[in-house]
This record gives sequence, structure tokens and C-alpha cells, in this order.
Amino acid sequence: MIPLKRRKITRTESNQDETCTFSHVSIFILERKMGASRRAFLKRLARSKGFLIKEKYSSAVTHVVSENNSGDDVQAWLDNQSGGDTSTSLQLLDISWFTESMEAGRPVTVQDKHRLKVNPKPNGDAKVFTMKSYACQRRTPLKHQNVFLTEALEILAENAEFSKNEGRSVAFTRAASVLKALPHRVYSMDELKCLPCLGEHSQRVIKEILEDGTSREVESTRQSEQFQAMKALTGIFGVGVRTADRWLREGLRSPSDLIQTGQPLNRAQQAGVQYYNDLQKPVTKAEAEVISDIVQEAVHAVLLGAEIQLMGGFKRGKDVGHDVDFLITHPEEGKEEGLIAKIINWLEEKGLLLYQQTSRNSYLEKMDGPARPRSNMDRFEKCFSIFKLQRSAESTGSEAERSVNQSETSSWRAVRVDLVVSPYSQFAFATLGWTGSKLFERELRRWAGQEKHMSLSSHALYDSNQKCYLRAQTEEEIFAYLGLEFIPPCERNA
Ligand code: UTP
Ligand code: MN
Repeated sequence: MIPLKRRKITRTESNQDETCTFSHVSIFILERKMGASRRAFLKRLARSKGFLIKEKYSSAVTHVVSENNSGDDVQAWLDNQSGGDTSTSLQLLDISWFTESMEAGRPVTVQDKHRLKVNPKPNGDAKVFTMKSYACQRRTPLKHQNVFLTEALEILAENAEFSKNEGRSVAFTRAASVLKALPHRVYSMDELKCLPCLGEHSQRVIKEILEDGTSREVESTRQSEQFQAMKALTGIFGVGVRTADRWLREGLRSPSDLIQTGQPLNRAQQAGVQYYNDLQKPVTKAEAEVISDIVQEAVHAVLLGAEIQLMGGFKRGKDVGHDVDFLITHPEEGKEEGLIAKIINWLEEKGLLLYQQTSRNSYLEKMDGPARPRSNMDRFEKCFSIFKLQRSAESTGSEAERSVNQSETSSWRAVRVDLVVSPYSQFAFATLGWTGSKLFERELRRWAGQEKHMSLSSHALYDSNQKCYLRAQTEEEIFAYLGLEFIPPCERNA
């Protein structure tokens, strides 16, 4: 052994960086559970053999050595030192690596047996995720990894809606939405334990699908005559759950049953039955763009300076939709009044409309007051319509295809289009309200009411604490009033 005095002089940390033999290895020995005197002994030993030993832990350390500590203990200690910001290349080692290195007189290669095992932290980058509980607090992209689960939960949500059980339907929709916001595919129930909105029933369904590949409840629902009939009947434009349910109880199952039995239908339902096949077919982005051009032309022909926005699913980045939604305004408030009638006239003269139902603007702030609207129904001037869209050469398909599918033979197809007109001062609220998704909108209103004591609609935001309306020119301002991080449309696919 080298005398204590000489060692101290020759190998203090201050001059060691230059004198050590293995400068790529910078060791820190943890005192925890080891004690100061043993640590001092090990430091002296290592330095005497040319090892670089750090007195204090810093980012310069490459190897942390400890004795009788678990990996989790050492990681917790490190997180405390570095605020959780430790390098991924840092080696957390058992004393065995140290003693072998001392014996060898050089740092031996780190093997698995030397490494301390650190378990993934519940909130870390491992697959256990936490998530905010309102969908409007989260980013939900269009594409996600859990379609095999969300599609199943959405069948149950739809079925609950058909049974007029709204609470249950929303619960399944919320559960599905949480899985849509996960950045990875779910493999085990363990990964779900920190997630909100996953009720006992939803978890049971998820567990069954993870274990067996399918859920018996979901499959039997999907196959059931009642579910299929309700889907077919509510799929008719102008038919809601209540009407469909009445027809179902009368033994009707499909649009053709309605025709055969001569059911009395209102104007919307007649159009719905007449164009059923076309309206069942998804509207493509390309078709939405053609319709967008037509609407632009119509609006500019009747009111110069009007602004038009494509809304709904297409604004959120969807490739297909069940309809095409437009929001129209004019910077000079008042100019937009009666605009819908003029647009409709223009379109009808050109033979572009198969059906239209226009409603006047019935929203008056003074009259309506701030009470939270009963539903998401707004009262803008608007038109629910069916466009007659000429097919392009490509979309009509080949001769052979056309002879197989009768509705493909036509030179045009029917497309549902919603046109909404908003006064300029309400435009930001209308934009937020018509971007969707429906769950995102619902959650925004719930957040406003429950968390902020505010009332949000597609017309306005009312602050019940200050007893005043909060005006906004942009969606960003509305998110800010609500104390929410701004979520862009493409991440509102809740
Ligand atoms: P859609 O029903 O058109 O849904 O409503 P979507 O997201 O575009 O999806 P597709 O069409 O099925 O592909 C679009 C948005 O407009 C609102 C809805 O809440 C949704 O956020 N909306 C719709 C209203 O505010 N009022 C209505 O009468 C209809
Ligand atoms: Mn839409």
C-alpha cells in the first residue's frame, strides 16, 4: 500500500483529470448504504490505479457505482440530483463491476450482470401513460394505433345511442377517444391504469379484445337485427333515433320497407330515401374540393367580400366525410343577413340542388341570454342541402364497373352539404363550433361549464363569474379565455 500522505498529494481530484490513465471513464461512488469510510477507501484504491473518481456527481460522470442499492433507488437518487434529467448513456453499476476493474487494473467491459435494473416509471417514457381527462385538453390526431379497440367501443356507443341511453353512449365515446389520443398501440391492461374515462365496462371490453382478439358483446351487437335496422334507418337523412325506433317497433327495417309500406315521410325524409345509396357513400376530399369551388363561386356572385371556410371533418384533415360543411361570413356585420336565400337561388338556377331546407338566424343575444344551450344546436342562418354533383370522368369508373353498380351509371351523385352563415362578431365561435369533432365540442362546453363557470356556444362565450360576454376574433382567444392550450383542428379528432 502507498502511504496515506503520498496518495493524498498525488491523487486529489483537482489534478486527477490530467493524470488519470482511463480518462473516458469518470466514476462516481454513491455513499448511500455504503458509508463514508468505505467510500473513502474505494476512492483511494481506484485513484491509486489510475481511475478518474469524481467527488461530486455531475453530468461529466459516466459510471455510477453503488453497493446494496436497487436500480430504482439509484435512479431516484439521481433524479433528485439532476432534476430527472440524466443522460441515457450513464451507466448505473453494481460494486461488482468496480471490484473486477480494480482486480484487472483497468475498467472492465460493462456486462448485463453489472448493470442495475431500473423499472420504467409510471409517468416516464415507458408505455404507461397519463392523460388529461377532458378531450379538449388533449391532442387527438386523425390517425392512431388503436382502431381495433376504438371501433369496438364506438359500436357500443352507437348502440347505446340507439337505445336513447345518452350517458352510456358518451361514456363509451369518451373511452374510445382516450385510446385515440395514445401515441402507441395498447398491448396490455397495465398500460391503461393511469388513463381517465375508462369505466369498468369499457375496460372489460378492451381486456377481452386484447386477450381473445374480439369482444363477444361487440360482435353480437354488430350482428343483431335491431342494431343493423337502427343503423340503416338512422342512416336516412332526416331520420333521428326516435323516428327510427318507432319504425323498428312497427316491424320496419330498411329504407325499402318505408317505400313498400308507404310510410308518411316529411320532405327531408323523402329526399333521404330517394338519395339513400348516394348519401351512404363517403364524400371524398376531391369531391369536397369541387363543391368548395362551386360554393365560392355562388357566394362571390351574390355578395362581394364574403369569406368562406370549409369546416367539419375535412378541416380536421379527414380524407372522407358524410357531408361537406361550410361557414360563411362578411367583415361588414349586417351584410351577411339574408345571404343564404341568395346563394340558394343562384345554386337552384344552375340546377345544382336536389334538396334544401333553409332556416333563418334566430339568435339574439339580448333575448337568448347566457343560459347554456340545451344541445349543440345553434341558431345561425343556415341551409341543410343535397347537392347534385357532376361526376368527373375518373370517378364514374370503367364501363364494366358501371354495369355492376347501377348507381355508378349516373353522370352525377347526391352529396349532403351544410351551409352556415355567421355574423362577423360571432365568427370565431362559429368556427370553433363547426370544426368538431362532436366529442371535442361537447367536452369544450363541459369544460367551460364545470371548470370555468362559463357558458360556450357556437355564438358566444359568457362568463358567469364576471357576468359578461367575452368577445373574440380568433379561436386562439377563446381557448385562452377557457384556460386551455390551443389545439389545432387536425388534433381535435377526439
Ligand atoms: P358533422 O356532423 O358534419 O361531422 O359536424 P364531421 O365532424 O364533419 O364529420 P363527417 O361529416 O361525418 O365526416 C361538423 C361539426 O359541426 C357541428 C358539429 O358539432 C360538428 O362539430 N354541427 C353540426 C353543429 O354545430 N350544428 C349542427 O346542426 C350540425
Ligand atoms: Mn361534416
